[in-house]
Amino acid sequence: MASIASNGYQSGFGNEFASEAIPGTLPQGQNSPQRVAHGLYAEQLSGTAFTAPRHGNRRSWLYRIRPAAVHAPFQPLAHASLHNRFDEVPATPNQLRWDPLPPPAAPTDFVDGLVTMAGSGGANEQAGIGIHLYVANRSMQGRFFYDADAELLILPQQGRLHIATEMGVLELEPQEIGLIPRGVRFRVELLDGSARGYVAENFGAMLRLPDLGPIGSNGLANARDFLAPHAAYEDVEGEFELIAKFQGALWSARIGHSPLDVVGWHGNYAPYKYDLRRFNTIGSISYDHPDPSIFTVLTSPSDTPGTANIDFAIFPPRWLVAQHTFRPPWFHRNVASEYMGLITGAYDAKAEGFVPGGSSLHNCMSGHGPDAATFDKASQADLARPDVIGDTMAFMLETRKVICPTRQALSSPQLQAGYHECWQGLARHFDPTKA
Ligand SMILES: [Fe+2]
Repeated sequence: MASIASNGYQSGFGNEFASEAIPGTLPQGQNSPQRVAHGLYAEQLSGTAFTAPRHGNRRSWLYRIRPAAVHAPFQPLAHASLHNRFDEVPATPNQLRWDPLPPPAAPTDFVDGLVTMAGSGGANEQAGIGIHLYVANRSMQGRFFYDADAELLILPQQGRLHIATEMGVLELEPQEIGLIPRGVRFRVELLDGSARGYVAENFGAMLRLPDLGPIGSNGLANARDFLAPHAAYEDVEGEFELIAKFQGALWSARIGHSPLDVVGWHGNYAPYKYDLRRFNTIGSISYDHPDPSIFTVLTSPSDTPGTANIDFAIFPPRWLVAQHTFRPPWFHRNVASEYMGLITGAYDAKAEGFVPGGSSLHNCMSGHGPDAATFDKASQADLARPDVIGDTMAFMLETRKVICPTRQALSSPQLQAGYHECWQGLARHFDPTKA
């Protein structure tokens, strides 16, 4: 499938992209000729098994100044708050909610500023999720990172990010998301001096667009709104650090050049970005709500049809027009587990306490829903008139496995001790004589 250049990016989801920073770099008619143009090396980056079915097979060919193998041996690298130990403390059925992390006191870059909140599974299981926050106040300087365990879904909440990757540059602002595939090396620079946001590690099958069923061939997140970078290389030598995340831990190696030295690449395994404001939100125009799966942006399927390893859903601005209907999200319990964050504005199920940069976790079968204030207001709302939720962008990571909070998340000063109280004001209204 041909790709179309758009605003400095290539447009499409999982397309067979091609880009070269110097004309004539990409070989024609084959992938690895005896001699590559401009004295480059050819290297394949495989994101799926060689023999994965064609529709799900992902690989790219990189034409680079040096192969990725050129670096000193890795040594273990300690990190105070990033890990994949999701069995440290027993998971709790309690509803949990956190305030945002404060800005870091010391100079902290994107990698240093990662804090693991919760998760399940791991790289070797090839299933589950790692959920992290980041707070940073400086760009990564002379260091590069890759995650061998998972693809990384990055959701900026404050501060724009300039992410220089092997395959080109992604620039992200809040309400956009970025996806860095497993193994792709990158450096994060801060465009606004400080940054805060969320990161999900997906240990399972790669995120993809959900099937649309009776919705048809358009809607939700449209493929053309996903943007992959153009090739952009760094020809720089010096004393640099390459950091790998491998089997839940970090490793550090010296490297004498920038590993972002890919002059041209082609293939369908590439970073991408997507503006959540482009989401085509679909909902009820008669009565009742569809399930929140109607808000799915991307899904990581599991081996069980219809039961995702991860569904990434958003709750964007939208009109509420349903009649005879309690319009906020309903009270519910769910066999899946739900981690939520808020990018901007207010979330329609909570009157207060869930603020931008905060998080909530409602695990398997734990009851949750609107707080008492929201219930009272919505129960009295005039349903003859449509209502609009204009200023909001919340997201949910929903998974089939229980999401286990980490020890540091449960002992965090940001954990709200009184979260359960938001439901205690839901009074008994039952009167069998009342209609
Ligand atoms: Fe929920």
